[in-house]
Amino acid sequence: MKAFVMKGIGKVGFADKPIPTPGPNDAIIKATRGLICTSDAHTVHGAIGPRENLTLGHEAVGIVHQVGAEVRQFKPGDRVVAGAITPDWGDLASQAGFSSQSGAALGGWKFANIKDGTFAEFFHVNDADANLAAIPAGVSDEAAVYCCDMMSTGFKAAENGDIPIGGAVAVFALGAVGLMAVAGARLRGAGLIIGVDAVAKRQELARVYGADAIVDFSREDVVARIMQLTDGRGVDCAIEALGSEEAFQNAVKVTKPGGVISNAGYHGKGEVVGIPRLEWGVGMAEKTIRTLLCPGGRLRMERMLRILKSGRIDPTPMTTHVFKFDQLERAFEMMDKKLDGIIKPLIVFA
Ligand SMILES: NC(=O)c1ccc[n+]([C@@H]2O[C@H](COP(=O)([O-])OP(=O)(O)OC[C@H]3O[C@@H](n4cnc5c(N)ncnc54)[C@H](O)[C@@H]3O)[C@@H](O)[C@H]2O)c1
Ligand SMILES: [Zn+2]
Repeated sequence: MKAFVMKGIGKVGFADKPIPTPGPNDAIIKATRGLICTSDAHTVHGAIGPRENLTLGHEAVGIVHQVGAEVRQFKPGDRVVAGAITPDWGDLASQAGFSSQSGAALGGWKFANIKDGTFAEFFHVNDADANLAAIPAGVSDEAAVYCCDMMSTGFKAAENGDIPIGGAVAVFALGAVGLMAVAGARLRGAGLIIGVDAVAKRQELARVYGADAIVDFSREDVVARIMQLTDGRGVDCAIEALGSEEAFQNAVKVTKPGGVISNAGYHGKGEVVGIPRLEWGVGMAEKTIRTLLCPGGRLRMERMLRILKSGRIDPTPMTTHVFKFDQLERAFEMMDKKLDGIIKPLIVFA
C-alpha cells in the first residue's frame, strides 16, 4: 500500500509499505477521509525528534477492513472513526482517569508518534473495541473526521475550564482547536465568549461557533481589551489554543482569581514557560492551570458523534481546502506555511 511518511526532519514523501495486520484486539481500517493537523507540521519540523519512514497523520475515518479474533464491537465493512489518541485502557494512568497519558506522559498518542499514522491506504488501531466508534447514519465522513482531534481537543479545553453557566471565557487563537474551544464553551453554557485572533476568516467562524466579541491581537492590547470587556474582573476561564508563551501569559493575566487557565497549545520552544508572577497573585490567587492531550476512546468519540448527529455543531466550514491522497505533499506544505487562508485541509482517499 501507499503511505505518506516523514523521511527526516523537514522531509516528507510517499513510501510503499505492507498492509498492517491486526493483533487479537486490533483492527485495520481502510482510510476514507483524513485531516492534516498543525501538530503533523510540528512533527515534521522535529518536535518528536528525527524519524525516518514514519507514516504521518492522526485524524482519519474509514471502513473496517479486518479485525483480530478478540474484537467484539466491530466487523469488516463498519464505518468508523478512530480517535487521534488510542490509549491502552488497562494502564494505571487510564484507570486514574488520564487515558491520554497511558504508558507514559503523552503515551496515548500512538499514531505518527510511536507507530505509523493514518495517512496510508490502511492503518492499524490498537484495542479496537475501546478506540473505534461507529459513525451513525446521517453523519458524513467529512464531519465525523473532526471528532478525532479538533472537536475532542477543543471541547476538552472548555471542559477543563469548569466554565460556570453564564461565565466569561477568553479563547487565545482561533485555529481549528480554538474554534472548537469556542464551540465547546458555548455548549458548556458560557455567557460571554471572547475570541482572540487577527485573521478575518477565523474571526468570522468564531462568531458562528459562539464568540460574542473578538479581540484582534495585531491591533489591540489584548489584556486591556479583555479586562474592559469583563468590567475589569477578568474571565472565569482562559483557553490557550496556540502554544505561545505570550498567549499563555496573557491567559494567566486575564483570568480572575479562582479561575482556570486551560492550556491546549503545544509549547515547542525554550526550556521554561514563564508564569507572570504578579497576575498569578504571587502564587496565591487560586488560579488553576490545567493542561490536556486530546482525549480518545469509544465513549468520547460516540459523544462527539452525537453532537454531530444532533446538528448542534457543524465543523465542516473549517474545511477550507480539499486534496486527494496523492496530493498530500502539496497539502502538507500549505498547512505548514498556512498558505491561502488554510484552516483544515481534508484528504480524500480513493
Ligand atoms: N493538546 C492537544 O491535544 C492538541 C491537539 C491538537 C493541536 N494542538 C495544538 O494546538 C495549537 C493550535 O492548533 P491549530 O491547528 O488550531 O492552530 P493554527 O496554527 O491553525 O492557528 C493558530 C492561530 O493562532 C493565531 N495567532 C498567532 N499569534 C497569536 C497570538 N499572539 N494570540 C492569539 N492568536 C494568535 C493565528 O492567527 C492562527 O489563527 C497548536 O499548538 C497545536 O499543535 C494540541
Ligand atoms: Zn492533532
